[in-house]
Parts: sequence; C-alpha cells; structure tokens
Amino acid sequence: PETGCLSIIVLGASGDLAKKKTFPALFNLYRQGFLPSEEVHIFGYARTKISDDDLRERIRGYLTEAKETSSGHSKHVSKFLQLIKYVSGSYTDGEGFQLLDKEISEHEISKNSQEGTSRRLFYLALPPSVYPSVCKMIRSYCMNKSDLGGWTRIVVEKPFGKDLNSAEKLSSHLGELFDEPQLYRIDHYLGKELVQNLLVLRFANRFFLPLWNRDNISNIQIVFREDFGTEGRGGYFDEYGIIRDIIQNHLLQVLCLVAMEKPVSIKPEHIRDEKVKVLQSVLPISFDEVVLGQYEGYTDDPTVSSDSNTPTFATVVLHIHNERWEGVPFILKAGKALNSRKAEIRVQFKDVPGDIFKCKKQGRNEFVIRLQPSEAMYMKLTVKKPGLDMSTIQSELDLSYSQRYQDIIIPEAYERLILDTIRGDQQHFVRRDELRAAWEIFTPLLHAIDDGGLKPVPYKPGSRGPAEADELLAKSGYVQTHGY
Ligand code: BG6
Repeated sequence: PETGCLSIIVLGASGDLAKKKTFPALFNLYRQGFLPSEEVHIFGYARTKISDDDLRERIRGYLTEAKETSSGHSKHVSKFLQLIKYVSGSYTDGEGFQLLDKEISEHEISKNSQEGTSRRLFYLALPPSVYPSVCKMIRSYCMNKSDLGGWTRIVVEKPFGKDLNSAEKLSSHLGELFDEPQLYRIDHYLGKELVQNLLVLRFANRFFLPLWNRDNISNIQIVFREDFGTEGRGGYFDEYGIIRDIIQNHLLQVLCLVAMEKPVSIKPEHIRDEKVKVLQSVLPISFDEVVLGQYEGYTDDPTVSSDSNTPTFATVVLHIHNERWEGVPFILKAGKALNSRKAEIRVQFKDVPGDIFKCKKQGRNEFVIRLQPSEAMYMKLTVKKPGLDMSTIQSELDLSYSQRYQDIIIPEAYERLILDTIRGDQQHFVRRDELRAAWEIFTPLLHAIDDGGLKPVPYKPGSRGPAEADELLAKSGYVQTHGY
C-alpha cells in the first residue's frame, strides 16, 4: 500500500451528509487503523464561518452513535477530532481554495519525509449545483504537487444530473478537468455487504449457474421501503423524486449485479463492462408498467410545492432484451413513508411442471436476499409437512448473518467505499458510460412526470403504498407465497 501524507478534504463539511455519513465513516476507518495519525489529516471546507473546534463539536455528536461502546471510545473520538481542521470559503471563487491548498501543503510539508507522496482525496458532500465550480477550483488551485508524487481523487455523490442531458453536461465538464481514474461516483448501495456478495453468490455457486435464467425464473423484484417520509429533506426531494433518489441509481445498480453475465475477471473494468451491457439491453419503459404514488401529507412540508407532482413511491417494470432474460420482468419498487424499512431482492422461480402434489397454491420457490435491516438470504422451499400426513408446506432455508457470523461486524457502506477510494479501487463506483446508460433508461419516464403527463396516486403514510402497485406486481407474474 502507498504511504506518505494523506489529506482528506470534506467539502460541505457542515452539511447533513458529511455529519451523518462521511465523518462517522472516517472515524470508523481511523478506529480500525486505516487512517494512521502520522499520515492523515482531514480538512472540512464549507461556507459557514466557524472554528476548528466548532466543527469538531458538531461532528462529535454523530460519532458517539458509532457501533463501538467500549471505554476506549471517547479517547478514540478525541484523537480523531484532533486530526480535523476547518477552512471556510466560498464554492465559487478562488480565495478559499487557495487558502485550502496552503493548509494542505503545510500539512504535507510537516508530515512528509523526502520520499513521501501527496495524496489528496476530495469528498464532495455538496449539492450538485456547485459541483462544476468546486471541481474547477480544485483543478485550478488544489491538485497534489507533482514533485511529491501521489494523486488527487474526487468523490462525487449523487444526484449526478437530473436527466440524460444534464448528466452528460456534468460528465463532460468533470471529464475536462479530471481523468476517469480520478473520479469516484459513489452509489452507497454498492458498498452494502449483501450487494457486494452478489457476484460471489452468482458466480461461485454451482447451484445457481443453471437456474439463473428465463427458463427457471418467473420474475425478479428489487424493493426499497422506508417507514419515514422526506423529513427535513423536502426541498431536495421535491426536485428529484423517488425515481432519481433511489431507483435510477441504487436499485438499478443492484439490478446490474443480479442480471449481468459473468465478467472475464473480477477486475473493476471487467465487472463494469458487463454492467453496462445489461443497462444497454434494457428496453424502453412502457408507461403501462409504471405506478407512481405520493403519500398523503407530503405537500404539508413548507419546502415542498403545494401542487407537487413528485412521486414518493414508484413501481417500474424493466425488461432486459437478451438471451438470458427475455420475458422475465424486473420489478423495481421504492417508496417513502411505507409500513416498514427494508431493502431486498426477491427472485421468484416458475412453477414446477407436472406438479403431482397440487401444491401450487402454497406458492413457488423464492430466493430472497435481504440487504437490510438484518442482512440475510433465505430460500423458500416446499417440504413435506412433518407428521403422519402426506401434505406439503412452504418453509425456509435461512442464512441470517447475525446468527451465522456473530463475531463479525459488518462495515457501513460509506466506510468501505471511502477505503476503496484511498486504495484506488474503482470496482464499486459508477463509470461514466454506466451513468449515461442509466439515465437513458429513465429519462423519458422522468420527463413525462416532470411535464405532468403522469401523475402519482395518493397513498396513506404507513401503508403498503398504492393498491395499483400490487396489481402491477400480480400482472408481472408475481405469486404471493404463504410460509409455515
Ligand atoms: C439515499 C437517499 O441515497 O439513500 C435517501 O437519498 C435514502 O432518500 C437513503 O433515505 C437510504 O439509504 P439506506 O442505506 O438507509 O438504505
């Protein structure tokens, strides 16, 4: 691994994302020894004029929620906070960035030995509207100093644009400033344990190889539910909606890993090549296979427009036009303010041909991968009901992570992904052509919603979402199963 000075610069340091996700992830990495104090310095940058200590205190509150409860915790927290320095400045003019560069350089000089490197990681925890100017400023004033060797990398958060055109514009802009290997487009779903497990599961198990196709699978659902509404994020959310917030990125990335062909190797480029092929094989979305919803009370939020057409729920059926998947609906479903918080993949198999047990009514084989909460994989099987009678029931073969891997703490997605950026591994980040293909799929639908041509139906907060979505699910071939 590379050594030498590492500067992590969190832009938008006083914002929600930085406080809730970025700094806690950095703290966890620090705690586990991945960010040694001899090498690392963390800079927070934002417009607000506050002191180093103010920022540290703001962050402290979020670190106490980290998993560790041992007595060493507060010592770790204090030491970690001492690594953080704050620089305030604007996102649009050079002065602040010149100052930032000066601070980083001083740190590099003080920490580096002659042969040390200068590694600069810029994390943009910012609204996308300021990406272009911030990236320009980084390029102009803050790149690593080449005589020390090392690198400059930029981590950008979604949303990357609002549709195909705006995303392409942003991509071209960033492409002029940085090379693709310097850009890390983060989709935190790619950092989740069970999402990372998908490739292993599919390509390292003989079980699945012959079954994972249109001959055996009836339909696949990829579902995201949250049991709370937009809560304080109404302004952002109303501009984007559930499709841009969850489906076009998180769920579509999961779909790629579920549907892609076996890559040549596990090298990042080979994996991403296969993901792009899946996206390019998705047929245009038919609006008959879309259900949009908006929870009642959504527009009560003062930051949301009172006649908002923004969906907080959507079910969208995608079809992949290739040899493996033709005829298998991929049902992507996401909603806020529903009855539970859960993200899962449900692979439903076809009925057994020539069923001699007449057990069809009980349901089908289904393989469920629960991404959260409580990571698990389980298989719904039909078995003989134990006892004297010869009857059948549905049961489960269950691999629940908390029981099976009791000693292992599953890392947070952000923790893992930030470590990847330091190591220079782009496997779990979205490549430019992938992003383009993802926007190509959803842009016509998004424009139809933005133009008011498609309208969300109301649903009750705390419910399953609109009944129309269940009808669409049934139409797509999904059969509800009843467990034991
Ligand atoms: C974010 C969305 O990307 O993902 C949020 O912007 C959503 O709206 C969040 O709440 C969900 O992430 P997780 O990891 O809690 O499923």
